[in-house]
Amino acid sequence: MSHAQPLNAQQIAYFKLNGYLVLKNVFDEGTLEAWRRQIWRALDGCLEDPATWPRETSGLDGYDYDPPESALVHHPQMMAIIDQLSGGTFVAGDGIPIIRWPDPGKSWEMPQTGHIDAYGGRWLPFMIGATTYLYDVEPGGGALIYWPGSHHAAHRYFLEHPSHVDGSFLEIEGFSWDVFCDNPATGGQEFTAKAGDVVLWHAYLTHNGSENTSHSPRFALFARWNHEKHLEQSFRYEIPEDLWKYWAV
Ligand SMILES: [Fe+2]
Repeated sequence: MSHAQPLNAQQIAYFKLNGYLVLKNVFDEGTLEAWRRQIWRALDGCLEDPATWPRETSGLDGYDYDPPESALVHHPQMMAIIDQLSGGTFVAGDGIPIIRWPDPGKSWEMPQTGHIDAYGGRWLPFMIGATTYLYDVEPGGGALIYWPGSHHAAHRYFLEHPSHVDGSFLEIEGFSWDVFCDNPATGGQEFTAKAGDVVLWHAYLTHNGSENTSHSPRFALFARWNHEKHLEQSFRYEIPEDLWKYWAV
């Protein structure tokens, strides 16, 4: 008997249509607790004592998971999903913990705009990302915000302007990230979730962070995977008519 694939046909169709897919309860408590422990150790603080929270630290830039193979990007459950989607052609990229410290005095607002990744400094084209939380995130609790279906708008933009895929759109006078999203002001959704739930997101999906107006820190891990050809210039500049050309689904 062959090993069951992690995603069923309905989930794959949902991901392709909407550009994201929520998966419940992917990681067990042992995995989550090991991640919490190593991140609090890196922060030199603890959950129970807000006086120890390093509120100036949000993204743990250059964070090295301990041990390295414990990174979300290498997790066997994630790799099984990524391998299914790619047919084995996507390779681990980067990803760090992102913390949003609570600010319960603030009033929560849905961000009116977002961005697509790959253009933070240098151009890092990737195929898919995933985000998980180490503590439950309720509405207003610093959720990741995503715009369902916006990957289609970004795909249309790049088909029209293929040379812009290297990030040169950032130089255009009056540029707005809203060119990658049909409904920035109305379409955002909060990824409210339990610890250990995962959202998969297509690289072209518009997303953003949001304020944490809860009483508890929001710890998120994200990871991004590249196509194995991601260093080849011809691949980097190719905008396939079929968005799924380099996928197995
Ligand atoms: Fe982002």
